[in-house]
Amino acid sequence: MAAIIDGKKISAQIRDEVKQKVQSLSESGIKVTLAVILVGSDPASQVYVRNKKRACEYCGIISREILLPEETTQEKLISKVEELNADPSVNGILVQLPVPRQIDPDAVIRAISPLKDVDGFHPQNVGALSIGLPCFLPCTPSGIIELLRRSGIRAEGKECVIVGRSNIVGKPMAMLMLRENATVTVAHSKTASLQEVTKRADILITAVGKPKLFTKDYIKQGAAVIDCGMDRDENGKLCGDVDFDDVFDTAGSITPVPGGVGPMTVAMLMKNCADAVDLQRK
Ligand code: GUN
Repeated sequence: MAAIIDGKKISAQIRDEVKQKVQSLSESGIKVTLAVILVGSDPASQVYVRNKKRACEYCGIISREILLPEETTQEKLISKVEELNADPSVNGILVQLPVPRQIDPDAVIRAISPLKDVDGFHPQNVGALSIGLPCFLPCTPSGIIELLRRSGIRAEGKECVIVGRSNIVGKPMAMLMLRENATVTVAHSKTASLQEVTKRADILITAVGKPKLFTKDYIKQGAAVIDCGMDRDENGKLCGDVDFDDVFDTAGSITPVPGGVGPMTVAMLMKNCADAVDLQRK
């Protein structure tokens, strides 16, 4: 029987720590401010933006929401980003992805000041992470590191297998697990014998977007299983990449979906906003 890694509880602890820090910054006259830009009206993005706004309210972070129409040009969006870069009252800037087709997301990410890039997506922050310089860490992978640490799961010397190689989760996750001194393998859609690879994992992290792909046949006895999936099962119910019920007796610990990795992402965004103040003062 696996121990359940409670992302709701751990994310609440982090939000409370951020709230305290924001409070003490406020007492010294600094109002931590996050600007969130949403282009268009993608329903999933609207939900994510609403969750970020609520978390800001809880932590005492001022959230400035900028809603732009679907037909916004890349030039217009970038000029908005530049305006926020130059605004000293703004500590963090986030452009909700995906952006409409006429806009190149990489060009927009490059336009965000690396000192305000609370998503940790700017190439300068990505590079800094890979060579171990201080930088903003992408929120989902850094949230997973916190889940492991606060659940007493040590990564040093362990076999860690990450399935998925996205810029948002898989690749930065690999860098962070290396920093934790794990032995890291990144598997993906072209990996031969995926089961053989994942069965080696003491820590398995899945980010593939395939509902319940990982059954017990993919899991080593006693492994920590971290599920980044936000998928829908055959009945339209929210589930992860891991077949939770099937894996439960094999894994040593496991994150549920919902209530595992998901809430950590927003909590780490709040932490990045508060930490932005320190980075900008240096
Ligand atoms: N869309 C889905 N996840 C994310 C994220 O972490 N940051 C941004 N900006 N957009 C997203």
